[in-house]
Amino acid sequence: MALSDLGAALLRRIDPELAHGLAIRALQAIPLPAPPADDPILRTRVAGLDLPNPVGLAAGLDKNGEALRGLARLGFGFVECGSVTPLPQAGNPKPRLFRLSEDRGVINRMGFNNLGLEAFAARLSDRPRNVIVGANLGANKDTEDKAADYVAGLIRLRGLSDYVTVNVSSPNTPGLRALQGRAALDDLLGRLNEARAGDPTPVFLKVAPDLTADEVALIVEASLDHRIDALIVSNTTLDRPDSLRSPHRAEAGGLSGAPLKARAMEALRAAAAAGGGRLPLIAVGGVDSGAEAYARIRAGAAAVQLYSALIYEGPGLVARIKRDLADLLRADGFSTVSEAALAAR
Ligand code: FNR
Repeated sequence: MALSDLGAALLRRIDPELAHGLAIRALQAIPLPAPPADDPILRTRVAGLDLPNPVGLAAGLDKNGEALRGLARLGFGFVECGSVTPLPQAGNPKPRLFRLSEDRGVINRMGFNNLGLEAFAARLSDRPRNVIVGANLGANKDTEDKAADYVAGLIRLRGLSDYVTVNVSSPNTPGLRALQGRAALDDLLGRLNEARAGDPTPVFLKVAPDLTADEVALIVEASLDHRIDALIVSNTTLDRPDSLRSPHRAEAGGLSGAPLKARAMEALRAAAAAGGGRLPLIAVGGVDSGAEAYARIRAGAAAVQLYSALIYEGPGLVARIKRDLADLLRADGFSTVSEAALAAR
């Protein structure tokens, strides 16, 4: 077992939020060696971004962009930090993060705890240059005009990240998910487009898994109309599958990890069917192996992201997923990730 995976095993024995804080501190303090160069078969291009591999870190682990150097060393093809809100925010009362160990899942109701846009911008201006970095935008709990918060984030962070994600799918900020309806989305995406003012930084939209296929199709059309560059599918779910066994299963918040797999895959398939290749898709939700990453790519994803599986598998997981994914691509006769995704159509 690698030392970092041993560390993860120890962290799993203590309070989850304390463990999270310690993991961030360790990523900041411990000088990890650079990861080996990626297998060239994993190289891919998503929305104009050249990725050394298609395995990204999902938002929420590094909310303030304070451990990007360490995270870059774990071998991710891209790292998304945030969600950041314009004003600093304490989030919900603790406890607000629960491991569902028996289910390999997590429930969180963090509520966008973060240090705010100014601190985030300061971190990003000193970001490592050896990894693609995404900035995930949220809205403050007390903001009435939520769209204004995303516009503020986009403008303040201009030039500081490789892409921006508009997160309208956190279940822990009242009213946020309502932005996924067509009228609200048209208003939000229209205003974001105006604020972009020709800036070439790609803008991604991150959606919930708790949508019907029709609702997903509507979001795909709105995204295309407003020149969104990629859709991230998906955030955590409010659903509680009957299969859950953990004593924490009834906690309020968003469920992630293995129990989210099926629902995230369903939302991905709906987006792929509606998009027909017109909109790049990034698959998230229960990705925990090379086989799972490959399944999402075969369903039409251009890349994947993960978070919860890191808690259970440790950071060595990233290298294992990349190795297995490269093997699976070769076994099926593909020479690139995008070829495998194209074959979905
Ligand atoms: C998240 N996630 C998340 N997403 C987002 O867009 N902004 C955020 O601030 C957060 N915060 C957050 C905190 C915690 C503790 C977790 C577990 C998750 C959602 C995350 O990015 C991802 O979409 C889901 O967790 C599903 O992927 P996994 O975890 O099943 O790989």
